[in-house]
Amino acid sequence: MKAKLGILVSGRGSNMVALLAEMRAGTIPAEPALVVSHRANAPAVERARSFGVPTTVIEAPKGIEPEAHDRQVEQALEAAGVQWICLAGYMRILSNRFVTKYQGRLLNIHPSLLPAFPGLHPQRQALAAGVRISGCTVHFVVPAVDQGPIIAQAAVPVLTGDDEARLAARILEQEHRIYPLATAAVLSGEVRLVGDRVLGPTEPHAAPSSLVAL
Ligand code: GRF
Repeated sequence: MKAKLGILVSGRGSNMVALLAEMRAGTIPAEPALVVSHRANAPAVERARSFGVPTTVIEAPKGIEPEAHDRQVEQALEAAGVQWICLAGYMRILSNRFVTKYQGRLLNIHPSLLPAFPGLHPQRQALAAGVRISGCTVHFVVPAVDQGPIIAQAAVPVLTGDDEARLAARILEQEHRIYPLATAAVLSGEVRLVGDRVLGPTEPHAAPSSLVAL
């Protein structure tokens, strides 16, 4: 039986679509069991439906304790039999309880070369810092935001004349490439979390250029 993957979203859902497409193509050895959004009007919800994937909206009313919201999310995931979770533009900070429960089975993508520029607006932070190279990172989620063990990264140049939108678009192209790669590597057991280290292939994995390493 295929592994069951849940995806948590808040917005546009382009990384979710990249994951769904690769599950459909069979390159990620999993089936999408549930997409959870905390926003009813997130475009990701409609996009997931168009893939025929079950979706649920669990709204987070202002002031709700993160743990209380996460318990509802967890119940939905468990009812759907979800074993692995990908955060795909999920804009809520998860409670320690939730993260600890799924540690090693919970992945995130962040549009910077972590540990540089964690948190909000990483592309803006990269431009402000004047770095010449930025990129994206897929990592296991730990209780500290954007600090978990790194599974894969891809780099892009920061070009003269870039603004936040142009840089974000260049990084996003790489996100769509490495998030499915990293997810497939984790789900197939090719890389895994041991303590706080990612053990993985000794050779670079499926790297069409030197810009991605798993
Ligand atoms: C992506 O840049 C992702 O790295 C970040 O939020 C953005 C979500 O975009 N965490 P999308 O919803 O996947 O299109």
